Amino acid sequence: MKRILSGVQPSGKPHLGNYLGAMRQHIEMQKDFEAFLFIADLHALTTVRDPELMREQTFDLAVSYLALGLDPEKTVFFKQSDLSEHAELCWIFDCITQMPFVERAHAWKDAQAKGKKEISVGLFNYPVLQAADILLYQPDLVPVGQDQKQHIEMTRDIAQNFNNIFGETFQIPEPHIEKDVAVVPGTDGQKMSKSYGNTIEIFADEKTLKKQVMGIVTDSTPVEDPKDPEKCNVFTLYKLIATEEETKALEERYKKGGWGYGDAKKLLLEKIMDHFADARKKYDELKDNKDYIYEVLEDGAKRARKVAKNTLDQAKKQIGYK
Ligand code: ADP
Ligand code: TRP
Repeated sequence: MKRILSGVQPSGKPHLGNYLGAMRQHIEMQKDFEAFLFIADLHALTTVRDPELMREQTFDLAVSYLALGLDPEKTVFFKQSDLSEHAELCWIFDCITQMPFVERAHAWKDAQAKGKKEISVGLFNYPVLQAADILLYQPDLVPVGQDQKQHIEMTRDIAQNFNNIFGETFQIPEPHIEKDVAVVPGTDGQKMSKSYGNTIEIFADEKTLKKQVMGIVTDSTPVEDPKDPEKCNVFTLYKLIATEEETKALEERYKKGGWGYGDAKKLLLEKIMDHFADARKKYDELKDNKDYIYEVLEDGAKRARKVAKNTLDQAKKQIGYK
């Protein structure tokens, strides 16, 4: 059975972009793959500085995945900081990776371009830690959104470099990116992202959700006029969760005119509430069951450690530490 691995940072509330671009694939793929999935809380330390927030967001992400259908018997689901192997392998990779190679990474380049004054060594090193996360588990595929493609390419280069220096150790993984949902737009039309404040949160209370959906930016075509669905974010988002027939019906309404963006937004809101109805119910149940959530993550860490330790031991042998 082929293996997949992915991680998501606990850096805010999960949104439609996270779900469609990554979380949904993680959950669907657990049927046909041996799956490893972790909460990237070591990576989140590059931005989160409040211990309560770190705990809360980590817990919330765990609850969200379980509510959306992640089966912890099938998927090894764990928290990155429960294993020391990730940071250890990261150091090893640091020592064989050149600075200019890491300087090419988007996150670092963006931070520099925005003139950010404080860029931590951790943020700079982010892709190297990600390479360690991935290679420890020797996965075949890494399911992620388009924005992570570069990180997976860097991971492949780092693996090849290690193998060249110390001998065949790491399997070279492939990214798995679903085209239709590679970049889900946010309420302002840019890529939906926690850091842009343009998200639609899948587990927000109804009032917040309504505010987010109604806040989607549209053009000023009058209600009576026909509208181009392909140019409207409301339609793009609807299409991603509705059936083909529902999408066709909406497309016709756009083209006919006499129907406003406000109506389309209402329809989208209904669709979201409907699509996530079961998950939202389960989320409410699970969030009060703290012991269960922590047990799942502890058990996941135990199972993950077996695989991670094995790979790290092998790398240490190749280096001459053992
Ligand atoms: P954010 O940009 O909101 O901080 P993360 O970096 O935590 O999101 O991303 C978690 C996962 O969700 C990654 O695999 C990422 O590629 C995917 N993802 C995030 N935003 C989008 C989006 N707008 N469209 C598609 N995939 C996305
Ligand atoms: N960088 C990823 C993100 O922001 C999170 C992540 C960390 C990850 N380690 C990973 C994703 C390993 C896939 C595999 O979304």
